[in-house]
Amino acid sequence: MKITKTILAMSLAAVMAMGVLSGCSSDQQSLEKIKESGEIVMYTNAEFAPFEYIGDNNEIVGVDVDIAKELAKDLGVELKIENVKFDTIIGAIQTGKGAFGAAGITVTPEREEQVDFSVKYVKSKQYIVQKTDSNFNTIDDLKGKQIGVQLGTTGDLTIDDALMAAADREDGTDGILYNSGAVLNQYNSAPLAAADIGTGKLDAVVVDELPAQAIANRENSGLKAVEMKYSDGSTVEEEYAFCVQKGNTELLEAINNTLERLMAEGKIDEYVLNHTTQE
Ligand code: ARG
Repeated sequence: MKITKTILAMSLAAVMAMGVLSGCSSDQQSLEKIKESGEIVMYTNAEFAPFEYIGDNNEIVGVDVDIAKELAKDLGVELKIENVKFDTIIGAIQTGKGAFGAAGITVTPEREEQVDFSVKYVKSKQYIVQKTDSNFNTIDDLKGKQIGVQLGTTGDLTIDDALMAAADREDGTDGILYNSGAVLNQYNSAPLAAADIGTGKLDAVVVDELPAQAIANRENSGLKAVEMKYSDGSTVEEEYAFCVQKGNTELLEAINNTLERLMAEGKIDEYVLNHTTQE
């Protein structure tokens, strides 16, 4: 009896140790393993032009893809892209399913607890997509409105926070939209949400600057994109970075090298321009 218990406890400990090792080390996605396999796996959500979207040949293209291709080239490996829901990307990188996440991902303190971020490569702000004859400029203007967002994005988090009561908010005051009748509607993509402005289901969609403009600039969209301000005139400023599993410093350094090279060469601005005019 005693022996079996000990054996059981020992094997349990061994299994747990293995779990800890495979769960917490970035070994599967180490630079060495990536080079050995000849392939690097990027996780993204291709509903976010100009950063990642489905191009004319049904391939995933965009600024982040251009950067990732340069990274793959620098490492001498092939790039493989997994197109998933935005709110599952961080988890997939955290658990080592993919080597890195590249999806116009805003660096936030909460996300920094889950993954490691590269150097920042793009600045952005939250915008309000709306009918051309609407007049939403500030977050206050969204009181009582039907608001669409992409699930799990910073647009989602910003509106969600504005809807909360004092007790649930960090600064202890009611959110701007609290009790105003405004409703948060979560979609799997911002373009899908924007389509519901057309059907009248939504009044506005809150999404990052360039994706907002890409949606509004589509032919006959009937939509415009306006920078979202707080009543004091300030805006919601964000910066994008690639992410890797926590502790995967070798891969992170390689990503930073490629990003820094591309920024120094002015390539990122060029990619943005290419994918903005091609829309
Ligand atoms: N920057 C925003 C965020 O990090 C939105 C990113 C959405 N990206 C995408 N590929 N759908 O939450």
